[in-house]
Amino acid sequence: MTMSSNNELVTTSQDKGILKIGIQRPDKLNALTLAMYEAMTAAIESAEKDKQVRVILIHGTETCFTSGNDLHDFATNPPEGENSPVFRFLRAISQAKKPVIAMVSGAAVGIGTTMLLHCDLVYADEGAKFKLPFVNLGLCPEAASSFLLPKLVGYLRASEILLLGETITAESAVELGLVNRIFPLSELSEQVMDIALQLAEQPPASLRLTKSLLREHHARQVADVMRKEGELFLQQLAKPEAQEAINAFTEKRKADFSQFS
Ligand code: COA
Repeated sequence: MTMSSNNELVTTSQDKGILKIGIQRPDKLNALTLAMYEAMTAAIESAEKDKQVRVILIHGTETCFTSGNDLHDFATNPPEGENSPVFRFLRAISQAKKPVIAMVSGAAVGIGTTMLLHCDLVYADEGAKFKLPFVNLGLCPEAASSFLLPKLVGYLRASEILLLGETITAESAVELGLVNRIFPLSELSEQVMDIALQLAEQPPASLRLTKSLLREHHARQVADVMRKEGELFLQQLAKPEAQEAINAFTEKRKADFSQFS
């Protein structure tokens, strides 16, 4: 059975036990708005309840996974508290009991990369690029990345990625353990669908149990760090450093933090 729906910027389609969630706003490099987070959360929540769904697959468009939170939204429509769409989405993906696969082509910026830390399998095209420019934006890490990233890649590498906002190439993402495998763009979709189908054929209860065993050791810590980061992130967002960074993006100029101490 195939089902699909199109909320314009986030599409869902279901076939052979796989629910695909597509981020589709290519003119803004798939930057995520409040409505898009809401649609993605609703899709994950309904997949969790739907017995027909065995695997959740998140993807962007061919040119971009997502450029992260819509920076104009940060200025005009900022998240207000832990029930804001972005935090609800992060809780939904980090607490999903069914396996979540991410298929990344092009850029995965900010939450585009941090959401991968909550996926069970991550595949990317050879040209994919990953970046966490939270400090560059006067912000701080979210999605428990200040805990999960150093655990995954080690402290010094995490510093490069978070303090300098260094770009990670697809090849280094594999070396760092952020991505399982890379494929040429022309093969990515087919290869990932093969893997998703393989996963969907596994015994579902055993799959859920194993996922929960893999994650339960640090689930509480992930939730705690995510809550703390969320509060600090919102505080930072209201401060002049972040305002300068966001204005600079809107005005297409380099941010100048020299006035801050
Ligand atoms: N929020 C809102 N709009 C965004 C966006 C974002 N996060 N990322 C890209 N866009 C928009 C641009 O404003 C531009 O719109 P315009 O054509 O109306 O001017 C369009 O998408 C294309 O982006 P552009 O910057 O021209 O593409 P690029 O290939 O030169 O650069 C990036 C790609 C990803 C490096 C760059 O867009 C970028 O740095 N984006 C911001 C990423 C970010 O900081 N995200 C938040 C993390 S918390």
